[in-house]
Amino acid sequence: MIPFSPPRIDNLTIEAVTNVLKSGWITTGPVTKQFEKNIAEYIQVSRVICLNSWTNAAELFLRWYGISEGDEVLVPAYTYAASANIIFHLGATPILVDSEKGKFNIDLEDLEKKITSKTKVIMPVDIGGFPCDYEAIKEVILRKYPLFIPKNDNEKKLNRILLFSDAAHSLGATINERPAAVYSDVSCFSFHAVKNLTTAEGGALGFNLPENFDSEQLYNDLNIYSLHGQTKDALSKTNSGSWKYDIIHAGYKCNMTDLQGAIGQIELDRYESETLVKRKSICNSYHDGFKEEAWYIEPPMITKTKETSYHLFQIRINGATDTQRDVVITLLRDKGISTNVHFMPLPFFTFYKEKGYHIDDYPNAINSYSTEISLPVFYDLTNEQVSYIIQNVKHVINDIINA
Ligand SMILES: Cc1ncc(COP(=O)(O)O)c(C=O)c1O
Repeated sequence: MIPFSPPRIDNLTIEAVTNVLKSGWITTGPVTKQFEKNIAEYIQVSRVICLNSWTNAAELFLRWYGISEGDEVLVPAYTYAASANIIFHLGATPILVDSEKGKFNIDLEDLEKKITSKTKVIMPVDIGGFPCDYEAIKEVILRKYPLFIPKNDNEKKLNRILLFSDAAHSLGATINERPAAVYSDVSCFSFHAVKNLTTAEGGALGFNLPENFDSEQLYNDLNIYSLHGQTKDALSKTNSGSWKYDIIHAGYKCNMTDLQGAIGQIELDRYESETLVKRKSICNSYHDGFKEEAWYIEPPMITKTKETSYHLFQIRINGATDTQRDVVITLLRDKGISTNVHFMPLPFFTFYKEKGYHIDDYPNAINSYSTEISLPVFYDLTNEQVSYIIQNVKHVINDIINA
């Protein structure tokens, strides 16, 4: 069976983790702190904090920022449930936005229509690693400025809607040849096991807020928040020789360990030079293999200004029904090829239906979903496997749509 997206684990990874195990310090410590600094440098933002998942990182930040009951957060219907679930945790309301017609990312017209005086955050999602149009989203935010009513100190300080990027897929994506993270206020990355860069489980927030926000202070605040509101973490308690600490609020527990940081650092060291090069080459081979097929709708990868992180290779089968797409997935599985669907729009799910969202309100999301299949992309995928996948995808799809 060709897996969908196994992590790259080799002797370097094992050695890095072993070194941490032998060091006697396995929770958050010097390795994670250095990893944070290196990611910040890579994505060109003022500060990065690593935590134990995208989910906890995003929720922690939005809680710190003050998102709560009565607030609305605009998020695409076409995303993984984590993006919108955390908004419910905060007591706020996710307002789901349709995808752009024929695309995966959020539709700006629908987005603009849905901004109200309750809108505090826009959370675009870089689906598959392809960055959203952040400059255009900023223009929407400016146009809608007269509606903005700040509630708390952070909102007053920012004095506009917060642009919070769900960059779970898009580490390494660029806009105008710069890291995509420099185009939003905050970017949140996932280092889950299937992501381009993994720490087994993990996530990171990159801060790019205006200068009246002190990113060092924010980093310290979130560290405390991630550790039960405790004013000193385990490492600083040892370093300072003082065991005393205070608890300043009922915080959470979602720090990243040095074992995870070590996996991430090894991945980061070879991310640009090896991981992205390999992923791009796999995606280009797929594209070359399918481009003559009448059914093939190519995924967004590269334009004049943007380049994806090559996280997913999402084909769409022009003219197929979702039942035909599902048969294709089963037949590919029979040929030993694992695939996935990214994503089932949220209003298809019981919880979202019960909350009153209707799938018919998101026609572009349905269209992109019903013909979509994501193919395997991972570092150790061989050229022979890529050729095997291309050949079988072509046979299976042609058989199904010509049947
Ligand atoms: C778009 C998107 N956002 C958020 C997440 C959540 O990431 P994590 O599992 O690190 O919490 C995922 C995970 O797959 C995702 O695909």
